[in-house]
Amino acid sequence: MAKRKILVTGGAGFIGSNFVHNLLESYDDIKVIVLDKLTYAGNLQNLAKWKNDDRLLFIKADIANKHELDTRLHGIEFNEVAHFAAESHVDRSISGPEEFVKTNVLGTFYILELARKLHTSGNLKVFLHVSTDEVFGSLGKEGSFTELTSYAPNSPYSASKAGSDHLVRSYFHTYGMPVITTNCSNNYGPFHFPEKLIPLMILNCLQNKPLPVYGKGDNIRDWLYVKDHCIAIDLAMQKGKFGETYNIGTRNEKNNLEIVQLICKLMDSRNPEGAPHNRLITFVADRPGHDFRYSIDPSKIERELSWTPKYSFEEAIEETVDWYMNNKSWWKEILSGSYQSYYEEQYKGI
Ligand code: NAD
Ligand code: DAU
Repeated sequence: MAKRKILVTGGAGFIGSNFVHNLLESYDDIKVIVLDKLTYAGNLQNLAKWKNDDRLLFIKADIANKHELDTRLHGIEFNEVAHFAAESHVDRSISGPEEFVKTNVLGTFYILELARKLHTSGNLKVFLHVSTDEVFGSLGKEGSFTELTSYAPNSPYSASKAGSDHLVRSYFHTYGMPVITTNCSNNYGPFHFPEKLIPLMILNCLQNKPLPVYGKGDNIRDWLYVKDHCIAIDLAMQKGKFGETYNIGTRNEKNNLEIVQLICKLMDSRNPEGAPHNRLITFVADRPGHDFRYSIDPSKIERELSWTPKYSFEEAIEETVDWYMNNKSWWKEILSGSYQSYYEEQYKGI
């Protein structure tokens, strides 16, 4: 019987699946139970490498459906929870906020309740809630978010994540549950769903399609390689202090136009027939309520858990571009499915 038995919600999504890869590559004596609804963003192909590995068990269930959770998890043993499942895309939260409230708030509540039963019987070691820097709102040109920054969410997405963070916090103070919350900045890397900035730009370069940049492209994000993020989460689960929050980031701020120009440059050498790819850059209407700048101060996790990133931005962004070049069947399947109609609606007229 494995010592660590981890329930990973949202483990078929972008960060969750990278986290599962990290666990299964790092530990032999482990059981990983992925629980995922397989929404448009969930994809079993992300976990295909492990399909014959009996350390991994997959359960399809909706975290916002209590009955489904109770029946599908009946008899399944776990002693740690890594909670990734969420609706994650800001633009979708603007056009359709309801799913965000259901999954991110109600769903987190049901997962917490499930964990509370384990806690009551003395069988819960840790509950790690994955949150975002967007709960802190938007920064001007100066300063960074610390763990003490007040919450000021601006989009339905970030408001729903803020709601879930508060619920998690309350389960520590009220029930003494061993919870930890991490708030990270923008991730990038393998298995990133094509609706997000970096994969969207790579795939549009490859298809000779316009590269839609919101506003003037001067909004700033603080980019974190997903593999560094997953190592940090595992560390927080093993060494973090219950009831605490940890910011995760790598001091890597770039404005959107810089990111798009860099991707164009990397694509020029890999896809010379499309060069120069920056001819495809198209400025489009801004996102409503677009947060100007995010910046994470990761001093606490560096100081208290001795976390440092393993990858430089330069190597990780190249690795990411190459991953999309080498995994065409992964993204072609997504582009030919239901995502097509979202894309056409979101970018109509360009
Ligand atoms: P994603 O959209 O790629 O994946 C989300 C996963 O959750 C999918 O597999 C989906 O099927 C599953 N899911 C959605 N609703 C569900 C439900 N009701 N029941 C069960 N499963 C459900 O998201 P991601 O980018 O991997 O983000 C993972 C977590 O990290 C989220 O909580 C997100 O808020 C947080 N986060 C993401 C980033 C980022 O840059 N991607 C940054 C900060 C925080
Ligand atoms: O900061 C963490 C957050 O990062 C996570 O909590 C979210 O789950 C994740 O989706 C991400 O949110 P963003 O809104 O920052 O990511 P997105 O990739 O959608 O956009 C990044 C920036 O690029 C943002 O300033 C908007 C801009 N953008 C995005 C798209 C999709 C464009 O200019 N054009 C686009 O087509």
